[in-house]
Amino acid sequence: MNRIIIGCDHGGFIRKSEIIKHLESRGFQVTDVGTYTQQSCDYPEIAKQVCGRIQGGEFELGILVCGTGIGMSIAANKHNGIRAACCSDTFSARMTRMHNNANVLCLGERTVGMGLALDIVDAFIENSFEGERHQRRVSMIHEIEKENSST
Ligand code: RB5
Repeated sequence: MNRIIIGCDHGGFIRKSEIIKHLESRGFQVTDVGTYTQQSCDYPEIAKQVCGRIQGGEFELGILVCGTGIGMSIAANKHNGIRAACCSDTFSARMTRMHNNANVLCLGERTVGMGLALDIVDAFIENSFEGERHQRRVSMIHEIEKENSST
């Protein structure tokens, strides 16, 4: 599927623009939920929008960028069915797709430069879940999610 949803806060605005350009040059159809300026905003709102549309089945994969990638990943991982990974290296980005079936990549604009960020994005989108023993573990994560769900 070459569609992807992306969002950022003010701390990730520049990197998000670079990632969109990169993904579009690779033939991806990118849906950008904002933020659209460098004016301060709240990253949980953006995480909610991206995760909600993945939960709804509209997208399989998403990318969230903030200053460190950490706030976005914490917020994203509060959503049922979302497995968000904050990555600063390509090995982690590849392995989190292959072993964790991560569906959201979180990046930090203030921690990862443009060249590496684009390589991390490539590693994330070019790899897929291996299943088998990893499926058992991902299912165990889902069980924990259910045990802690108040709804
Ligand atoms: C915003 O200043 C910053 O806190 C945010 O982008 C992010 O790094 C949070 O984790």
